[in-house]
Amino acid sequence: MSTPIIFALPCCEARTETIAARIGAEPGEVGIRRFPDGESYVRIRTAVDNRPAILVGSLDRPDDKVLQLLYLARALRDQGATSVGLVAPYLAYMRQDRIFQPGEGLTSRYFADLLSSAVDWLVTVDPHLHRYRSLGELYSIPSRVVHAAPAIADWVRTHVRQPVFVGPDEESAQWVAEVATLAAAPHTVLVKERHGDRDVEVSVPDLQAHRSRTPVLVDDIISTARTMIETVGQLRRLGMSRPICIGVHAIFAGRAYEDLLKAGVSQVVTCATVNHVSNGIDLAPLMASGISELLNRQLDGDIK
Ligand code: R5P
Repeated sequence: MSTPIIFALPCCEARTETIAARIGAEPGEVGIRRFPDGESYVRIRTAVDNRPAILVGSLDRPDDKVLQLLYLARALRDQGATSVGLVAPYLAYMRQDRIFQPGEGLTSRYFADLLSSAVDWLVTVDPHLHRYRSLGELYSIPSRVVHAAPAIADWVRTHVRQPVFVGPDEESAQWVAEVATLAAAPHTVLVKERHGDRDVEVSVPDLQAHRSRTPVLVDDIISTARTMIETVGQLRRLGMSRPICIGVHAIFAGRAYEDLLKAGVSQVVTCATVNHVSNGIDLAPLMASGISELLNRQLDGDIK
Protein backbone atom coordinates (compact mmCIF):
# COMPACT_ATOMS: atom_id res chain seq x y z
CA MET A 1 0.00 0.00 0.00
CA SER A 2 1.33 3.48 -0.81
CA THR A 3 2.22 5.78 2.08
CA PRO A 4 -0.97 7.16 3.67
CA ILE A 5 -1.37 10.90 3.90
CA ILE A 6 -2.72 12.32 7.14
CA PHE A 7 -4.48 15.66 7.68
CA ALA A 8 -5.26 17.42 10.95
CA LEU A 9 -8.42 19.40 11.49
CA PRO A 10 -7.89 22.59 13.51
CA CYS A 11 -7.54 21.22 17.10
CA CYS A 12 -5.45 18.21 16.38
CA GLU A 13 -2.22 19.38 14.73
CA ALA A 14 0.16 18.28 17.52
CA ARG A 15 -1.29 14.82 18.04
CA THR A 16 -1.52 14.30 14.28
CA GLU A 17 2.24 14.90 13.98
CA THR A 18 2.94 12.27 16.64
CA ILE A 19 0.54 9.82 15.00
CA ALA A 20 2.03 10.44 11.54
CA ALA A 21 5.53 9.67 12.81
CA ARG A 22 4.36 6.50 14.55
CA ILE A 23 2.39 5.06 11.65
CA GLY A 24 4.75 6.24 8.91
CA ALA A 25 2.21 8.53 7.22
CA GLU A 26 3.02 11.75 5.36
CA PRO A 27 1.56 14.84 7.01
CA GLY A 28 -0.63 16.81 4.60
CA GLU A 29 -2.12 20.26 4.86
CA VAL A 30 -5.70 21.43 4.58
CA GLY A 31 -7.04 24.95 4.47
CA ILE A 32 -10.31 25.72 6.25
CA ARG A 33 -11.93 29.08 6.73
CA ARG A 34 -15.30 30.72 6.88
CA PHE A 35 -16.58 33.18 4.33
CA PRO A 36 -18.04 36.39 5.76
CA ASP A 37 -21.53 34.91 5.33
CA GLY A 38 -20.67 31.96 7.61
CA GLU A 39 -20.29 29.34 4.89
CA SER A 40 -17.21 27.10 4.95
CA TYR A 41 -14.29 27.02 2.53
CA VAL A 42 -12.12 23.89 2.45
CA ARG A 43 -9.04 23.12 0.40
CA ILE A 44 -6.69 20.13 0.23
CA ARG A 45 -3.25 21.74 -0.05
CA THR A 46 -1.09 18.60 -0.40
CA ALA A 47 -1.29 16.28 -3.40
CA VAL A 48 -3.14 13.09 -2.50
CA ASP A 49 -2.03 11.08 -5.58
CA ASN A 50 -4.08 7.89 -5.31
CA ARG A 51 -3.18 7.27 -1.70
CA PRO A 52 -5.21 6.39 1.39
CA ALA A 53 -6.05 9.57 3.31
CA ILE A 54 -6.66 9.98 7.02
CA LEU A 55 -8.44 12.89 8.72
CA VAL A 56 -7.81 13.54 12.42
CA GLY A 57 -10.40 15.66 14.20
CA SER A 58 -12.00 15.54 17.60
CA LEU A 59 -15.77 15.93 17.41
CA ASP A 60 -16.51 17.87 20.57
CA ARG A 61 -18.84 20.81 19.77
CA PRO A 62 -19.73 18.77 16.68
CA ASP A 63 -22.30 21.11 15.19
CA ASP A 64 -19.52 23.64 14.50
CA LYS A 65 -17.27 21.09 12.83
CA VAL A 66 -19.12 18.34 11.07
CA LEU A 67 -20.03 20.06 7.83
CA GLN A 68 -16.37 20.99 7.26
CA LEU A 69 -15.36 17.42 7.99
CA LEU A 70 -17.86 16.08 5.44
CA TYR A 71 -16.63 18.58 2.84
CA LEU A 72 -13.00 17.61 3.47
CA ALA A 73 -13.77 13.90 3.12
CA ARG A 74 -15.54 14.59 -0.16
CA ALA A 75 -12.72 16.88 -1.42
CA LEU A 76 -10.16 14.17 -0.60
CA ARG A 77 -12.04 11.69 -2.76
CA ASP A 78 -12.29 14.29 -5.55
CA GLN A 79 -8.50 14.70 -5.28
CA GLY A 80 -8.00 10.96 -5.80
CA ALA A 81 -7.78 9.49 -2.29
CA THR A 82 -8.21 5.72 -2.53
CA SER A 83 -9.90 5.73 0.86
CA VAL A 84 -10.66 8.21 3.64
CA GLY A 85 -10.31 7.15 7.27
CA LEU A 86 -11.41 9.25 10.22
CA VAL A 87 -9.62 9.43 13.57
CA ALA A 88 -12.03 11.11 15.96
CA PRO A 89 -10.45 11.01 19.45
CA TYR A 90 -13.84 12.12 20.81
CA LEU A 91 -16.92 10.82 19.04
CA ALA A 92 -19.99 12.96 19.52
CA TYR A 93 -23.70 12.17 19.69
CA MET A 94 -23.29 8.86 21.51
CA ARG A 95 -25.43 9.75 24.53
CA GLN A 96 -28.82 10.01 22.80
CA ASP A 97 -28.78 6.25 22.47
CA ARG A 98 -32.48 5.78 23.07
CA ILE A 99 -35.72 7.60 22.52
CA PHE A 100 -36.47 8.77 26.04
CA GLN A 101 -39.48 10.98 25.20
CA PRO A 102 -41.97 10.43 22.38
CA GLY A 103 -40.92 12.29 19.25
CA GLU A 104 -37.22 12.62 20.07
CA GLY A 105 -34.68 12.10 17.30
CA LEU A 106 -32.30 9.17 17.76
CA THR A 107 -29.34 11.39 16.95
CA SER A 108 -26.71 8.75 17.78
CA ARG A 109 -27.97 6.81 14.79
CA TYR A 110 -28.45 9.80 12.49
CA PHE A 111 -24.91 10.95 13.23
CA ALA A 112 -23.50 7.46 12.68
CA ASP A 113 -25.32 7.25 9.32
CA LEU A 114 -23.90 10.61 8.30
CA LEU A 115 -20.28 9.71 9.14
CA SER A 116 -20.61 6.18 7.76
CA SER A 117 -21.65 7.64 4.42
CA ALA A 118 -18.67 10.01 4.32
CA VAL A 119 -15.63 7.99 5.45
CA ASP A 120 -14.42 4.40 5.02
CA TRP A 121 -13.30 3.63 8.55
CA LEU A 122 -13.25 5.13 12.01
CA VAL A 123 -10.88 5.08 14.97
CA THR A 124 -12.03 6.64 18.23
CA VAL A 125 -11.28 6.61 21.95
CA ASP A 126 -13.76 5.11 24.42
CA PRO A 127 -17.03 6.16 22.81
CA HIS A 128 -19.96 6.37 25.20
CA LEU A 129 -21.24 2.83 24.71
CA HIS A 130 -24.08 2.30 27.12
CA ARG A 131 -27.22 0.98 25.47
CA TYR A 132 -25.27 0.08 22.34
CA ARG A 133 -22.74 -2.59 23.13
CA SER A 134 -20.40 -1.86 20.24
CA LEU A 135 -19.86 0.77 17.54
CA GLY A 136 -20.75 -1.91 15.00
CA GLU A 137 -24.38 -1.69 16.14
CA LEU A 138 -24.42 1.90 14.94
CA TYR A 139 -21.71 2.49 12.36
CA SER A 140 -21.81 0.60 9.09
CA ILE A 141 -18.07 1.18 8.44
CA PRO A 142 -15.19 -0.74 10.06
CA SER A 143 -14.19 0.84 13.35
CA ARG A 144 -11.59 0.41 16.05
CA VAL A 145 -12.06 1.58 19.63
CA VAL A 146 -8.95 2.65 21.53
CA HIS A 147 -9.18 2.16 25.29
CA ALA A 148 -7.74 4.83 27.53
CA ALA A 149 -7.64 2.50 30.57
CA PRO A 150 -3.98 1.39 30.24
CA ALA A 151 -2.78 5.00 29.96
CA ILE A 152 -4.97 6.11 32.89
CA ALA A 153 -3.72 3.21 35.02
CA ASP A 154 -0.10 4.15 34.17
CA TRP A 155 -0.76 7.74 35.18
CA VAL A 156 -2.29 6.69 38.50
CA ARG A 157 0.52 4.23 39.23
CA THR A 158 3.07 7.05 38.85
CA HIS A 159 1.16 9.85 40.57
CA VAL A 160 -1.05 8.38 43.31
CA ARG A 161 -0.09 6.37 46.35
CA GLN A 162 -2.76 3.94 47.53
CA PRO A 163 -5.68 4.87 45.27
CA VAL A 164 -9.25 3.64 45.55
CA PHE A 165 -11.16 4.07 42.29
CA VAL A 166 -14.72 5.36 42.24
CA GLY A 167 -17.04 5.18 39.23
CA PRO A 168 -19.93 7.65 39.59
CA ASP A 169 -22.48 5.55 37.70
CA GLU A 170 -23.13 2.15 36.18
CA GLU A 171 -21.92 3.31 32.77
CA SER A 172 -18.52 4.13 34.24
CA ALA A 173 -18.15 0.58 35.60
CA GLN A 174 -16.49 -0.62 32.38
CA TRP A 175 -13.67 1.96 32.63
CA VAL A 176 -13.25 1.97 36.39
CA ALA A 177 -13.06 -1.81 36.71
CA GLU A 178 -10.43 -2.06 33.98
CA VAL A 179 -8.30 0.80 35.32
CA ALA A 180 -8.51 -0.60 38.88
CA THR A 181 -7.43 -4.05 37.73
CA LEU A 182 -4.50 -2.61 35.77
CA ALA A 183 -3.46 -0.44 38.71
CA ALA A 184 -4.01 -3.32 41.19
CA ALA A 185 -6.26 -1.21 43.44
CA PRO A 186 -9.82 -1.57 44.79
CA HIS A 187 -12.81 0.11 43.17
CA THR A 188 -16.47 0.83 43.74
CA VAL A 189 -19.24 1.94 41.39
CA LEU A 190 -22.09 4.23 42.49
CA VAL A 191 -25.66 4.53 41.28
CA LYS A 192 -26.61 7.79 39.58
CA GLU A 193 -30.00 9.29 38.89
CA ARG A 194 -30.14 12.12 36.38
CA HIS A 195 -33.12 14.43 36.80
CA GLY A 196 -32.00 16.99 34.20
CA ASP A 197 -28.95 18.22 32.25
CA ARG A 198 -27.47 19.79 35.37
CA ASP A 199 -29.33 17.92 38.08
CA VAL A 200 -27.87 14.56 39.15
CA GLU A 201 -27.86 12.50 42.33
CA VAL A 202 -25.32 9.80 43.16
CA SER A 203 -25.50 7.15 45.87
CA VAL A 204 -23.32 7.16 48.99
CA PRO A 205 -20.24 5.01 48.41
CA ASP A 206 -19.30 2.29 50.87
CA LEU A 207 -15.62 3.03 51.40
CA GLN A 208 -15.33 2.03 55.05
CA ALA A 209 -12.51 -0.40 54.27
CA HIS A 210 -10.57 2.17 52.21
CA ARG A 211 -10.81 5.35 54.27
CA SER A 212 -7.06 5.97 54.24
CA ARG A 213 -6.75 5.69 50.46
CA THR A 214 -6.90 8.54 47.94
CA PRO A 215 -10.18 8.47 46.01
CA VAL A 216 -9.72 8.61 42.24
CA LEU A 217 -12.92 9.27 40.29
CA VAL A 218 -12.94 7.96 36.73
CA ASP A 219 -15.60 8.74 34.12
CA ASP A 220 -15.64 8.84 30.34
CA ILE A 221 -17.10 12.30 29.75
CA ILE A 222 -17.02 15.39 31.94
CA SER A 223 -19.58 17.76 30.46
CA THR A 224 -21.42 19.90 33.02
CA ALA A 225 -19.23 18.18 35.68
CA ARG A 226 -22.34 17.75 37.85
CA THR A 227 -21.72 13.98 38.02
CA MET A 228 -18.19 14.52 39.32
CA ILE A 229 -19.20 17.39 41.64
CA GLU A 230 -21.97 15.33 43.28
CA THR A 231 -19.60 12.39 43.73
CA VAL A 232 -16.89 14.62 45.21
CA GLY A 233 -19.53 15.91 47.66
CA GLN A 234 -20.42 12.39 48.80
CA LEU A 235 -16.76 11.51 49.34
CA ARG A 236 -16.03 14.70 51.26
CA ARG A 237 -19.06 14.10 53.53
CA LEU A 238 -17.60 10.67 54.33
CA GLY A 239 -14.41 12.38 55.46
CA MET A 240 -12.29 11.03 52.61
CA SER A 241 -9.32 13.06 51.39
CA ARG A 242 -9.71 15.42 48.41
CA PRO A 243 -10.30 13.24 45.37
CA ILE A 244 -8.49 13.22 42.05
CA CYS A 245 -10.92 13.39 39.11
CA ILE A 246 -9.96 11.69 35.86
CA GLY A 247 -12.05 12.08 32.72
CA VAL A 248 -11.34 10.54 29.36
CA HIS A 249 -13.02 13.34 27.40
CA ALA A 250 -12.72 16.93 28.67
CA ILE A 251 -15.90 18.47 27.29
CA PHE A 252 -16.39 20.95 30.16
CA ALA A 253 -19.48 22.92 29.17
CA GLY A 254 -19.50 26.59 30.26
CA ARG A 255 -17.84 27.02 33.68
CA ALA A 256 -17.89 23.31 34.50
CA TYR A 257 -14.12 23.08 34.98
CA GLU A 258 -14.00 26.05 37.39
CA ASP A 259 -17.00 24.64 39.29
CA LEU A 260 -15.28 21.26 39.63
CA LEU A 261 -12.04 22.84 40.86
CA LYS A 262 -14.05 24.65 43.55
CA ALA A 263 -15.84 21.46 44.66
CA GLY A 264 -12.99 20.20 46.86
CA VAL A 265 -10.87 18.17 44.45
CA SER A 266 -7.12 17.84 44.69
CA GLN A 267 -6.60 17.58 40.92
CA VAL A 268 -8.49 17.19 37.65
CA VAL A 269 -6.74 15.25 34.89
CA THR A 270 -8.04 14.32 31.47
CA CYS A 271 -6.84 12.40 28.46
CA ALA A 272 -5.75 14.42 25.44
CA THR A 273 -8.75 13.65 23.24
CA VAL A 274 -10.30 17.12 23.50
CA ASN A 275 -7.89 20.04 23.95
CA HIS A 276 -8.13 21.36 27.50
CA VAL A 277 -5.84 22.77 30.17
CA SER A 278 -6.48 19.59 32.24
CA ASN A 279 -5.01 17.27 29.55
CA GLY A 280 -2.35 15.19 31.30
CA ILE A 281 -2.63 11.75 29.75
CA ASP A 282 -1.35 11.33 26.20
CA LEU A 283 -3.14 8.77 24.06
CA ALA A 284 -1.38 9.38 20.72
CA PRO A 285 0.65 6.13 20.97
CA LEU A 286 -2.48 4.05 21.65
CA MET A 287 -4.35 5.82 18.84
CA ALA A 288 -1.44 5.16 16.47
CA SER A 289 -1.65 1.41 17.22
CA GLY A 290 -5.40 1.43 16.53
CA ILE A 291 -4.87 3.21 13.21
CA SER A 292 -2.05 0.83 12.20
CA GLU A 293 -4.38 -2.08 12.86
CA LEU A 294 -7.00 -0.71 10.47
CA LEU A 295 -4.35 0.21 7.87
CA ASN A 296 -3.07 -3.38 8.02
CA ARG A 297 -6.60 -4.68 7.48
CA GLN A 298 -6.76 -2.36 4.49
CA LEU A 299 -3.47 -3.77 3.22
CA ASP A 300 -4.83 -7.31 3.57
CA GLY A 301 -7.84 -6.25 1.48
CA ASP A 302 -10.09 -6.96 4.43
CA ILE A 303 -11.52 -3.42 4.34
CA LYS A 304 -11.54 -0.56 1.80
C1 R5P B 1 -22.92 9.59 31.19
O1 R5P B 1 -23.55 8.77 31.78
C2 R5P B 1 -21.44 9.70 31.25
O2 R5P B 1 -20.83 8.51 31.57
C3 R5P B 1 -21.00 10.80 32.19
O3 R5P B 1 -21.22 10.40 33.52
C4 R5P B 1 -21.74 12.05 31.92
O4 R5P B 1 -21.69 12.35 30.57
C5 R5P B 1 -21.21 13.21 32.70
O5 R5P B 1 -21.99 14.33 32.41
P1 R5P B 1 -21.95 15.60 33.32
O6 R5P B 1 -20.52 16.04 33.44
O7 R5P B 1 -22.79 16.60 32.56
O8 R5P B 1 -22.56 15.24 34.64
